[in-house]
Amino acid sequence: MAPYDPQCSDPNVTASGFGDGTGLPQHVAIIMDGNGRWATQHKKPRVLGHRAGVEALRRTVRAAGERGIPYLTVFGFSTENWQRPRQEVTDLMGLLREFVHADVKKLAAEGVKVRIIGSRQGLEPDILALLDEAEARTAEGTHLNLNVAFNYGARDEIISAVQSIVELSSSGKTTIITEADVNAALMTRGLPDVDLLIRTSGEQRLSNFLLWQCAYAELVFQDTLWPDYGAEALDAALAEYARRDRRFGARKDSQNEPTSPARLEA
Ligand code: FPP
Repeated sequence: MAPYDPQCSDPNVTASGFGDGTGLPQHVAIIMDGNGRWATQHKKPRVLGHRAGVEALRRTVRAAGERGIPYLTVFGFSTENWQRPRQEVTDLMGLLREFVHADVKKLAAEGVKVRIIGSRQGLEPDILALLDEAEARTAEGTHLNLNVAFNYGARDEIISAVQSIVELSSSGKTTIITEADVNAALMTRGLPDVDLLIRTSGEQRLSNFLLWQCAYAELVFQDTLWPDYGAEALDAALAEYARRDRRFGARKDSQNEPTSPARLEA
């Protein structure tokens, strides 16, 4: 993880307000679930479910870019996924290698900027090099920001953020901790909050994904198994999002100035 940067003044690190007026989420996050069940349904080995999942990821990245979504974050491998059988972990690492080798050039040409979030600990040196390569070769992209959460866990991320803030605090560099300080200490620094969180395969859990960043996300759960995902399913999720009334704890009809708790006490 890069060191905590208290100077980070990117306006995007704050909540995205009442939206951009187009009804389109600025930041979509996806828990790509159901590869194993898809494989079982198709009487195939699990690895082919994950392989079909990579195809779904390609379709979804393309569709998100075409629809003008600026930020897409996907959950590729969680810190808990190490508990899966060794062969499956090896298969997932192999697929990441394949994805980077096969797709980075094309992603760069399409203006997709790749960023990998997650812990680098425990990853093979060649994977680390590939992740760096993917980021470096797509660094100029301006069309779509694709964030791949790999070896990622939100609680680990929050612990690291707290640790870096404590270090700054004990060195006297900061005393009052703000939301912006925490945003800047997370691996997602510089990204807007998640507007829409999608989980496929009918499961309805966050599974330790972007817990801080999803504070006001709209949650959309779809029955589609991830390998079957693509433009049509994404459009259904976007349509559901557009129907939601986002209030962020406030009331849209309120004409009054916001009242702070201190003013209520006065
Ligand atoms: C959940 O399905 C999916 C994963 C654990 C991995 C997601 C990975 C991909 C879509 C492909 C790899 C992509 C990259 C970028 C590495 P599951 O296995 O939990 O399915 P199940 O719940 O049906 O068993």
